[in-house]
Order: sequence, then C-alpha cells, then structure tokens
Amino acid sequence: MKIAVIGTGYVGLVSGACFSEFGFDVVCVDQDAGKIEQLKAGKIPIYEPELDTLVKRNTERGRLSFTTDLPEAMVGAGAVFIAVGTPSRRGDGHADLSYVYAAAETIAKEIKDYTVVVTKSTVPVGTGRKVAEIIRKANPAAKFDMASNPEFLREGSAIGDFMRPDRVVIGCETEEARAVMRQLYRPLFLIETPILFTSLETSELIKYASNAFLALKISFINQISDLCDQVGANVTDVSRGIGLDGRIGSKFLHPGPGYGGSCFPKDTLALMKTARDAHAPISLVEATVSYNDARKVQMADRISTALNGDVKGKTVAVLGLTFKPNTDDMRDAPSLVIIPELLKRGAKIQAHDPVGTEEARKHMPDIDYCEDPYQTMVGADALVIVTEWNSYRALDLAKVKKLLKAPIVIDLRNIYRPDEMAQFGFNYTSLGRPRTI
Ligand code: UDX
Repeated sequence: MKIAVIGTGYVGLVSGACFSEFGFDVVCVDQDAGKIEQLKAGKIPIYEPELDTLVKRNTERGRLSFTTDLPEAMVGAGAVFIAVGTPSRRGDGHADLSYVYAAAETIAKEIKDYTVVVTKSTVPVGTGRKVAEIIRKANPAAKFDMASNPEFLREGSAIGDFMRPDRVVIGCETEEARAVMRQLYRPLFLIETPILFTSLETSELIKYASNAFLALKISFINQISDLCDQVGANVTDVSRGIGLDGRIGSKFLHPGPGYGGSCFPKDTLALMKTARDAHAPISLVEATVSYNDARKVQMADRISTALNGDVKGKTVAVLGLTFKPNTDDMRDAPSLVIIPELLKRGAKIQAHDPVGTEEARKHMPDIDYCEDPYQTMVGADALVIVTEWNSYRALDLAKVKKLLKAPIVIDLRNIYRPDEMAQFGFNYTSLGRPRTI
C-alpha cells in the first residue's frame, strides 16, 4: 500500500520512516521546500536516535521519498496522514488547528479513489469530524473515511515506541477504514500489540487523557518528594513501594524539576480548555498545570537555599539544558525557567549540554556555554544537574570536587547516591532523599 504523510515535523517524519521500514511505500510531503531539499539530501532536521539510518535505508530502497507536491504524493495512496503542527494558540492555550484544516482543504481536492484520511497530529476532541466536514464540503464526491490514530512517541526513543508500542489506538467508524488501518499495523500483529478500535472522539480523547495522566503522575511524585524532604522519607523507595502495585505501575514516578517538552505542557493546557468549554472542567489537570509551572521556579529557590540563600555574584555550573536526554528539544525545558530566574537573582551561569546548546543560545544568550561538562565547574560556587544525560551519570567526582570552588552539588534528577556524594565530601542536595551527613 502507498501512504502519503503530510508534515515532516517530528511526528510525520518518524511515522513516515517507520511505515516505510514496515515495507509500505511512503511519500512525505511538506510545503517547506528547503526542508524537503535537506531531507532528499539525507539531512535530518531533528535529533532522534536511529532516525537517520532508517531514512537513509528506506530512501535507498526507494520506499521513502520527499516532495512538496501533495497532488503527486496522493496519487494511488490508500491512506493520507495529517501530521502537521498543532501549537498552542497564543492567548487562549487552545490547540491551533489552522494547519490541520488547511491540509484538509488541500487533500479534499486530490481524493480520486477511496482514501482513509488519518489525523496523526494531536488534535482536540471533535477535530476528526470537522476535518471530514471540510473535505465533504470542498469535494462532495470524494470517497473517503476519517480515522484518528494518535501517536504515543517519546522523543529520544520514538523509533522503538513506533515499532514496539504498548498499544495502537485507532478511531474510525466503517469496516472499510478499519481494514485499511489494520493492514497498516499488520507488522505489529507478530508482537501481539493490542490494537484498540474506537470512535473518532474517543481516540482523540485517549491521547489527551494519556498525556494528562502521565503529567499528573509526575506532578504527584514531585509533591510527594517535597513531602519526603520535610519528613525524612526517601522518595526512591516510596516510588518503588507504590509502583509495585500493578494498579499504579512503576513508570513515570521519578521526581524532577517539572515536566517539559513538546507534548505534556501543550496537551494538558489544551485538555484543560476543551474540558472547560464542555462544562466538564478537570480540576486535577488544572492543578497539575499550575503546580508544574511553579515547580520550575521552586527549583531556583532550592539552588539558592543550597548556596546559603543567595546566588548574587555566584557562579553556577549547569549540566543539561534540554527538557530530557537524547533530544535537542528545548521546548518548555525546566532550564528555560530555572536559569533566567538565577540570572535575575544575580548569578553567573556556565552551562553544558551534549546537543542542546545551539537552540538554548537563542533563548538564553547571556550565559557561558562550555564545550565540556568539566569546563562548567571551573571556579563555580555550585554544580546543578538539570537534565540526566548519560554522560553526566559517571562524572569523575574527584575532579568535580577539585574544579568547584565549593563542593556544592544540587542534583535535580537524583542521578547520584547521597551516601557516595557524602563520602566524597560534597554538600549534596537531591530531590526527596535524606542526606547522609
Ligand atoms: C511524551 C509522552 O511520553 C509520549 O507518549 C507523547 O506522545 C509525547 O509526550 P516526551 O515529551 O517525548 O513524550 O517525553 P517523556 O519521556 O514522556 O518526558 C516528558 C517530561 O516528563 C520530561 O520533561 C521528563 O523529564 C519528565 N519526566 C518523565 C519526569 O520528570 N519524571 C518521570 O518519571 C518521567
């Protein structure tokens, strides 16, 4: 089967490359001619492990191609995926659907034979039905069905998540559409992936509810970790102790400086708005959103506290700028709140990130970017670990101690052990774990 994928952003590119790896004929379309030229030349505009290999292999095999020409891409396609951006609209936080609707208009004109039009972008409940209306209005003779097929890809492990998902969710309402979608995910039958068929609205809501629940789970453990600090309990053991209950599950129970990224902040906000508009507000999600915003600022307070209550005139070494490891994505990264807050309070920042510095520089030009993690520590009054890149997990602690002016380490990802840090003579602060000195 041939597939067209509209939008070569994160979701479109990963989905297109993975479907071509499954053996389908995939054409990825984007109106950005520069981006298409780059992709044709094998340059991947985002950092995602394995993606370049997949794109290269399937382009060479002739199963994956890139074009700006949507009409050409749609010739003979059994399914067309809409994977364009749905950013938060300025002002009201609703998802901006103008790119999705524009794609629908264009698709409508090009439908010749029966086509399944699939929304892959995260779209608010009701969008699939609106897209169908747009297509029907623009081309009343078009033979098509709508489907909603949300992605659950994590940046940094998107290829694995696509190839070995926990589940595939498909919202569609005719047997014909179900047959096409079933065929697309046939390669996953072998690994017995559950495929859930639902209505359009249900599928759309599953995506938002999943992300909101995960955001809530993270915020919950962050608050529990603050409580652990106050009562002398250990959050790592609490996470393990509650996570072993199969009803709770052990994942997404790591305390941190607050969630960031391209999905959780945007999707929780969009769900909050949808729920309010539908007169069914979800107060738990509202509380999560405001708590997570406050959490990032609180991290700056924690750093100040570790520096005797004042960062003015102090140099702070920061390791990790991206919202999580294995991505160059800085969207809603905690570092973008923590660092400006420290700068505002008069600190000087020396920072390192394995891949995020170029993007970080655009947002935070007033800090010293270092080529090497150890360089950040030279003459610094404290070291703060903001993102848990693997390369920060086994630092030469003796060297760290020697380079820092004062042996103060604030670990916002709990990647070091308090007892080990105490042995090295560090004044070590982490999240929700008792100090051993
Ligand atoms: C998320 C969802 O996991 C994915 O299913 C969805 O499609 C898109 O959004 P992603 O944003 O790539 O993926 O990253 P994820 O690994 O989920 O982490 C999100 C944020 O939560 C990061 O800032 C991370 O540091 C934070 N996090 C995650 C925690 O603080 N603690 C945890 O236990 C897990």
